[in-house]
Formats: sequence, C-alpha cells, structure tokens
Amino acid sequence: MKIKIIPDLEGFSGTILIPIFENEEVDRNTVILENTSVPSTLFSGKKDSTYAFQYKNNLCLAIGLGKQADYKTIKTIFRRVATKQQDLLNEDVAIVISENFSATQVEAIISGLLLGTYNLGHYKKEQKNHAFLNPNFILNIVTTLNFKLAAERGIKIAHAQLANFHLVDLPPNTVTPKYLANWAIEKGKQYGFDVVVLGHEDAKIAGLGAFLAVGKGSEQEPQFVIMKYVPKNAIQPLKHVGLVGKGITFDTGGLNIKTAGMLHMKCDMAGGAAVFGAMQLIADLQLPIKVTAIVPCAENAVDAKSFLPSDVIKSYSGHSIEIIDTDAEGRLILADALSYMIKNFNPEYLIDIATLTGSSVGTFGYECGALFTNNSKIAEQLQVNGDAIGERLWQLPLWDCYKSDIQSDIADVKNYSGKAVAGAISAAKFLEYFTNEHPAWAHLDIAGVAFGDDEFAKSKHATGYGVHLLTLFVENL
Ligand code: BES
Ligand code: ZN
Ligand code: ZN
Repeated sequence: MKIKIIPDLEGFSGTILIPIFENEEVDRNTVILENTSVPSTLFSGKKDSTYAFQYKNNLCLAIGLGKQADYKTIKTIFRRVATKQQDLLNEDVAIVISENFSATQVEAIISGLLLGTYNLGHYKKEQKNHAFLNPNFILNIVTTLNFKLAAERGIKIAHAQLANFHLVDLPPNTVTPKYLANWAIEKGKQYGFDVVVLGHEDAKIAGLGAFLAVGKGSEQEPQFVIMKYVPKNAIQPLKHVGLVGKGITFDTGGLNIKTAGMLHMKCDMAGGAAVFGAMQLIADLQLPIKVTAIVPCAENAVDAKSFLPSDVIKSYSGHSIEIIDTDAEGRLILADALSYMIKNFNPEYLIDIATLTGSSVGTFGYECGALFTNNSKIAEQLQVNGDAIGERLWQLPLWDCYKSDIQSDIADVKNYSGKAVAGAISAAKFLEYFTNEHPAWAHLDIAGVAFGDDEFAKSKHATGYGVHLLTLFVENL
C-alpha cells in the first residue's frame, strides 16, 4: 500500500471512506460532500455505525467513531472495515480526513486498514489476497493537512504487527527455532540490523546451559538469535536498549507434560515475536537509539533426551539451577539470555517480554500484561506508552519476601516454588536473580494478552501485543 495525499475528490472515482466523530462540527444534513446530504436521523457518527450512500456514482461509506475514540478503538474500527468490506476495496479508494483528526489518529486509521488484510487461512487451497497488500495499491487521503508521514508510519507499524501475526499464528511444524533464526537474518538484511545466531555447538561453547537444557528433548536445534541495530548518522552519545523475548516455538511442558491448554502453546514464542516485530519497526523507522535484542528459540518437547525434574543445570551466569518443573522452561532460557545480554552488551535499559505464566492470566485475564521492575521511572514510561496505544500493563511487586520461593537446598536457585500461588511473581523473582541488579530492567509477562479471541477469527490468534509498545518505549526514551 502506498499513500497519496489529494486536496479534494475532483476527478476521483471509486470507494470513498468517511470517518466521522459523533460530535464533529459538521452539519451532516448539508455538508460532508458537495450537494450530498447524510440525514442525521440515519447516521449521526455513533461508534460502530456505518452508513452507505452514493455520491456522483461513487460508493461512500460513512464510518461512525463515537464522540471520542482512543487509538485502539480507531484501529479496530478500521481493521473491521478493511476485513468486512474487502469487496468494495478492490476499486480505487479514498479516505476523507477532516481537520478534526490528529496525526496519531490518522496513523491508527491507516494501521487498522492494513491489519484488516490479515487472514488466518494460511493453508487453505483458496487464497483471497486483499487489494491493500499489493505494494502498488494507492490509498488516496483527502485532506488539507499534511498527514503523509503519519499515514506512512501507520503502514510501517502494521507491517511489523502483521509479521508478528504470521510468526505466532503459523503452526509449530513450520515456525521452528531455525525458521525464526532465518526470519531474523532475512529481515536484518532488508531493514538494516545485524544478526548473529548461535546454534547448538556455539551455544555449548558459550556455556548457555539453561537454554540448552530446555531444547534437549527436541528434534529441532535450538537457536540463540542475537540482533543489533545501530542507527546511521545519529548524534552521539547513543542511548542503548536491550530487548529479550521468549522464543519457545512449542511448549508441551516437557516431562511435566501439560494436562491443559497445550493446544495453544504455539503462542509461546509471542514474546520473541514481539521483539522480532519491534526490531523490524525500530529499523524501519530508523530510530536514533542503539538496540540489541536476544531471542532464545527452542522447543520444549518430550523425549528420552528431555531434561528431567530434579536435574541440576549450570546456567550461563555460573549459577546452578534445580529443575522442579520442566514446564517452567521460559524462565530458564530467559535467564541465560538476560545474563548473556548484560555480560556481553551491557545495555542501559533492559526489557524482557514473555508468555511466562498462567498465573498472570489468572490475575489480569486478557486485558493487560503484568509488569515487574524495581525502577519506577521505566515502569511509568512503559505504562504511559502502553496506555497511548491500548497495550496496557499493570505492576506487580518484586519484594524480597518472595525470594524464598526460589531458594533451593541443592543448587543456587530453583525454577519453581512447587506451590500454586504467586506464580507470576516468583517467576519474575527468578529472572531478577539473573539480572545482576541491573538498574533499569523490566519484565513483561504477556501470557494473557499475546494470543486471544476477538471478532476477526473463530479461534485464538496473535494480537501483536508488544511490537508497538516496545518500539514506542525505545522512541520516547
Ligand atoms: N508457556 C507457559 C505459560 C503460558 C500459559 C503461556 C498460558 C500462555 C498461556 C509456561 O511455560 C508455563 O508452562 N508456565 C507454568 C509454570 C509452572 C509449571 C511453574 C504455569 O504458569 O502454569
Ligand atoms: Zn511451560
Ligand atoms: Zn512456556
């Protein structure tokens, strides 16, 4: 999709989209389009209402946004329009944006329209490609204001989120650790970031013992994916952010095999997919910040070679870990990724993101991610950026009274308390143990928000959570 700004509809023919706020100061009976009226009894701009009419042989669709609409609401409304009205959008398309819109709202509109192209039927015989996906498709924006940059930014955000949707929704026999590593190498070349991948041998030489223990029972070779983005021509000194994402391509639970919810465990690399999408977007937007990212990718499988409950393993940091439960595998691969990040790259800010615990879903349901940090400034920065785009976070404590949950008799630390309480907190305490008291570390547990139900499909699927949030956090530092 490409954007073209046009001052009016002179000479245009095709489908015309007209988003309207309920309180917009337009007399809908007479204005909107020259000589054409929209009777306010039929359409008043109420949220979730639409009104179709003809204007000079063009089909017009007025789209109600309600009195005021937040970023996510606007984006969802336009995703719905692009999905449901696909057949109307094969023509030339124009969207009329009045001066009541802000640049951010235009970004949300365009982003939503492009997300509406997403179709979960990746393996169906019949593929119906959406017109918007044609790179030469021109979306005309009718406006007297300069919204080109905002619209183009909306396109870049949607492309990164669509990449996340594919990575999370494609099945685990396609999205293996190797697939993720190849994705990163390819996108690194395309968007401009460096990628280094440690396979089994290199990870062994490096001493990534906790990471390798998790992948032991799988046919799929684990891949420790390291990405580095350094902005070109940026003013020194650069801020440096470290991102770490959980990349478990499927979580059977291991020998502590899951008795519930296994079907959805292809989503267990959604934290990694948020980091992958964010790297694409950060590089695409050429943000003036240095970003180093690690996504440890492995499959937690059941096999004679699987690691065992009661094994003691040696992590990259040198700390020994007693395995209480092989289903608490995410924290093991993240422990090694966090220590590796700190030891080798020492970023000023460090954020990890993971579908880490069922406990966080029990606490917050599907509405917000759980946030853990000892740094109140980055807690606020993460929450403010998340609120702006509808990717919410709420903080839980990291008090030292929870430390006893991970104290082991045989090793330096254990991977699970063995108690069915405070699961998200004790997992965060475990990660904290491997962060060397990093002053600006935050952990986001996104098990409830990365994959879910909505109006766009019958089964659970990726939400894209984290791609935009991590990017905004980096951008607004
Ligand atoms: N991948 C799961 C967490 C999860 C749950 C992700 C629901 C997405 C949706 C994680 O590896 C896990 O199995 N956690 C266990 C830990 C327990 C065994 C200590 C959990 O939370 O039940
Ligand atoms: Zn697990
Ligand atoms: Zn898991």
